[in-house]
Amino acid sequence: MSDQVNIMEEIIGRYPRKPEYLIFLLQDVQADLGYISKEAMQLIAEHADVPITQAYSVATFYQSFRLEPKGEHEVRVCLGTACHLKGGQRILEDLERKLDVATGATTEDMMFTLNSVNCVGACALSPVVLFDGKYETNITSSRIEKILKQLKNDQTGNSEEETND
Ligand code: FES
Repeated sequence: MSDQVNIMEEIIGRYPRKPEYLIFLLQDVQADLGYISKEAMQLIAEHADVPITQAYSVATFYQSFRLEPKGEHEVRVCLGTACHLKGGQRILEDLERKLDVATGATTEDMMFTLNSVNCVGACALSPVVLFDGKYETNITSSRIEKILKQLKNDQTGNSEEETND
């Protein structure tokens, strides 16, 4: 927690106390901490000299800002037209079950954040799921299972081989 305070102090020190620096403060906090916590938002609003409601409305207007911490791995399911026709929504629901998390949220162990995304430009290879930005195309439920298992193993340093079940 004190690390976060130090980072916040350092970021705030970069900018004058003026409302026009609000967006820069938000961007820097997001870049350094990965998300904008309630405490960070309070400090940003105070420093930019704007009401906290204004700071929140700017942060929620731009989709690139996160108000919740992100998991170690980000899983994004494409729900563009081509992927939707190939079962994108079913894949997303399957991931919600497998990870026990709702879309837009992070698992309790902070390992995975699950999101949907619009067309990522690989329609011919749909359905597509991105694991930490890496495209997995023509994805199936069993491949998802293996990838999740591999990511969990990597996380725990467990070198267990994939099984062919
Ligand atoms: S709709 Fe999914 S990649 Fe285009």
